[in-house]
Amino acid sequence: MTAKKLYLRSFGCQMNDYDSGRIADLLEERMGLEKTESLDEADVVILNTCSIREKAQEKVFSDLGRIREAKKCHPGMMIAVGGCVASQEGKKILDRAPWVDVVFGPQTLHRIPELLAEREKTGRAQVDVSFPEIEKFDSLPAPHASGAAAFVSIMEGCSKYCTYCVVPYTRGEEISRPLVDVLVEVAQLADQGVKEVTLLGQNVNAYRGRTPAGDEADFALLLEYVSEIEGIERIRYTTSHPREFTQRLIDAYRKLPKLVSHVHLPVQSGSDRILAAMKRGYTALEYKSIIRRLKAARPGIAVATDIIVGFPGETEDDFERTMTLIEDVGFDASFSFVYSPRPGTPAARLPDDTPYSVKLARLQRLQKRIDENAAEISRGMLGKIERVLVLGPAKRGEGELMARTDNNRIVNFPGPASIINQMANVRITEVFPHTLGGELV
Ligand code: 5AD
Ligand code: SF4
Repeated sequence: MTAKKLYLRSFGCQMNDYDSGRIADLLEERMGLEKTESLDEADVVILNTCSIREKAQEKVFSDLGRIREAKKCHPGMMIAVGGCVASQEGKKILDRAPWVDVVFGPQTLHRIPELLAEREKTGRAQVDVSFPEIEKFDSLPAPHASGAAAFVSIMEGCSKYCTYCVVPYTRGEEISRPLVDVLVEVAQLADQGVKEVTLLGQNVNAYRGRTPAGDEADFALLLEYVSEIEGIERIRYTTSHPREFTQRLIDAYRKLPKLVSHVHLPVQSGSDRILAAMKRGYTALEYKSIIRRLKAARPGIAVATDIIVGFPGETEDDFERTMTLIEDVGFDASFSFVYSPRPGTPAARLPDDTPYSVKLARLQRLQKRIDENAAEISRGMLGKIERVLVLGPAKRGEGELMARTDNNRIVNFPGPASIINQMANVRITEVFPHTLGGELV
């Protein structure tokens, strides 16, 4: 008998990609499901959805229409919808798409096998979008590494309640995994050859992990412990919040060479008025003070950020303040979007009279400036020797390898397959818009 097939689609953030990986592992272990890229041969279809912006959410319903057609030719097909849209809409998913069999949330993905079994037994669609705290991690199989880079979730959810954001409602409040659980997972991955670990959470610097002595470890302490783990050569994390970017965390950049010279620290706006309306809990000056201290602790550190353009009430003057902040900080990359009103969030009720076309023009201007800056930083790398992690064969070019620099750039260079998954030194010889070219030294 051939194995049953799983078609899994992941939308949105790294958190969702991580969850999708865990879902695939779980369904393989518990139900023997094998992944497929073809919807038509799928026995189980899973959509791991995102609702951070309206566009992401609408994509889910158009996909569900396509899947309904596939199910007509394959009546036994089971369809499960999870992630943030599922969490927010719950049973309402079934009203809009009654051909869906299971609805699960970001905190109940470990229950998918039971929910599918219950659906089969009762013939009724199953919905579980509850937040049973951290039970999820205790019920998932041990992670297995694929390659030399891996993600480890250290905390889940968010308690910041920025006025535009759905995450606290869809993923629940901040909850940290116990310190030892995280360290054991990193050590297991290191044993399997992982050299670069990315610690993952909505707000990793809000980490408060229980220690065996019953105390709490903060994020800076967690970094110290992770950096002691043999085999781990590089530590990344994403994402963090300016509000809990403590001096202890900044000092970690002095003490821990394994911590990469790259940080993702969302700012959202450069206008104090807008930051207050967003309920971010810091001013532009406070943000810049963090960056100044970070750069003092780790000269040359690259800073990436998230920016929302066109928040309700954002004036030309507010936007200019964001542009000024961009100049002051010299961001290396940004994930920037036009504000998207999300149902149930406080900002969705604010008056907003800026036309979309104006917001879009602002976004394009902002992105162009940040791209120019990123290109300048790349050009500054020309001729320098970078320590890189070799990820695998390059997407293009025979005999070429692809690697990641400390500051998160992809560099392609000719080299032997034997150094895949190893650290290597590469001289940067070419700069392209999105990648670099180099030679092994
Ligand atoms: N509209 C636009 N962007 C948003 N983000 C979060 N909520 C919204 C929204 N309603 C962005 C923020 C956040 C990133 C993950 O998504 O910049 O940092
Ligand atoms: Fe959303 Fe703000 Fe929490 Fe980030 S910090 S997940 S933007 S509520």
